[in-house]
Amino acid sequence: MKTIRTQIGIIGAGPAGLTLAHWLKSHGIDSVIIEHRSREYIEARVRAGLLEQNTVDILTQLGLAERLHKEGHRHEGVYLSFDGERIRVPFGDLTGGRNITIYGQQEVVKDLVGAWIEGGGEIYFEAEAKELVNFLDGKPEIHFVHNGEAGVIHCDFIAACDGFHGIGRKSLPKDSFNEFSVTYPFSWLGILANVAPSSEELIYAYHERGFALSSLRSPEVSRLYIQVDNDDKVENWTDEQIWDELEIRLGTPSWELKRGPIFEKGITPMRSFFTDNMQAGKLFLAGDAAHIVPPTGGKGLNLAVADVKHLVDGFVAFYQHKSTNELDNYSKIALQRIWRAQDFSNFMTTLFHKQAEHGSFQYHLQRAKFDYIGISESYATTIAENYVGLPFSSFATL
Ligand code: FAD
Ligand code: PHB
Repeated sequence: MKTIRTQIGIIGAGPAGLTLAHWLKSHGIDSVIIEHRSREYIEARVRAGLLEQNTVDILTQLGLAERLHKEGHRHEGVYLSFDGERIRVPFGDLTGGRNITIYGQQEVVKDLVGAWIEGGGEIYFEAEAKELVNFLDGKPEIHFVHNGEAGVIHCDFIAACDGFHGIGRKSLPKDSFNEFSVTYPFSWLGILANVAPSSEELIYAYHERGFALSSLRSPEVSRLYIQVDNDDKVENWTDEQIWDELEIRLGTPSWELKRGPIFEKGITPMRSFFTDNMQAGKLFLAGDAAHIVPPTGGKGLNLAVADVKHLVDGFVAFYQHKSTNELDNYSKIALQRIWRAQDFSNFMTTLFHKQAEHGSFQYHLQRAKFDYIGISESYATTIAENYVGLPFSSFATL
């Protein structure tokens, strides 16, 4: 049996686990990562694209953002559209110069994995955590299987950064948390296409045929989404039907949608989920392991990185000042932002998705909200500051 000894045993090499490992290393704290999937798989997995100011600042401070600054796209505003009427919410003026950057999650993962391995960091791919032991009142152990061989990590603390389906949340004592879950009655069909983006900034659109989003990955690659039913399948859509639908839903006078070859299609369900307790003894959850938000607010990856900040604060206080105060209060501190993000993601989702018939009471409420963004700077500011991400100083600390 392979035996490993480290300070922090990290399960999962997504944005949460990788950022945690690098950040701990910058404070001289040791960690080892185990990741269920192969390196090729996690570096190719197409997911998020929207990085908040906080996330970019953290990766920059850690010296991990060289390519991000070269290849990422800084956006200083966002377009919102309703029944073909488009308005722009500028971030700079409303948020004191904060912005978002579009840079694919798999690029972040590639950068962080590459730098970790180059720096001599220990990471095991295709290594699945099977059981978490002794974390309530003993010396924690992560039991895993790597290449058919059993292994164990002996550590001071376990960081479960293992996503929604991971083992971390399932290991919390049953009476230690409440779970909240909402499944929306629609999903997103997302595409990547080899064509220049039709808009330099993102467009979120309500249309009576359903939601649409125009995003991008590079000057040559567009990322677009449309609302579909939960039981819909990728095979039900030809490329031409997808482009036709995007053209109708995103359309506005004197704007043209550029079409090109689609090379990736996928359907994502829309879900809000979270647990109100992210720790038990020496086990801590971070990122999607503890919460899921619908992607309409672009918050998932950013919440994962924000959790990691609070966890690092806790580990640093423990190792450098022998204080457990920060770790004891980890869930309480992190949940402030998580509730805020749940609300904002729900707000953006209900504002821009078709939920009821055109002309219904619900439709008019959505329309009234959209109109208000155009006439009230305060309302536009509320959206802008949530969208670019609130600074850490906005929330209570210890
Ligand atoms: P993950 O990235 O899920 O990583 C967890 C890792 O743990 C995985 O690699 C998994 O293989 C591994 N693992 C699981 N179980 C085990 C085990 N037992 N042993 C070892 N390893 C294990 N977020 C945004 O911020 N902005 C966006 O624009 C955005 N758009 C999105 C669009 C789509 C289509 C989707 C699907 C998601 C989007 N998100 C977005 C959400 C974002 O991708 C996630 O919130 C993010 O991946 C969370 O990171 P994580 O590190 O917590 O979890
Ligand atoms: C993306 O580019 O994939 C993206 C952007 C904004 C979102 C969701 C996804 O809200």
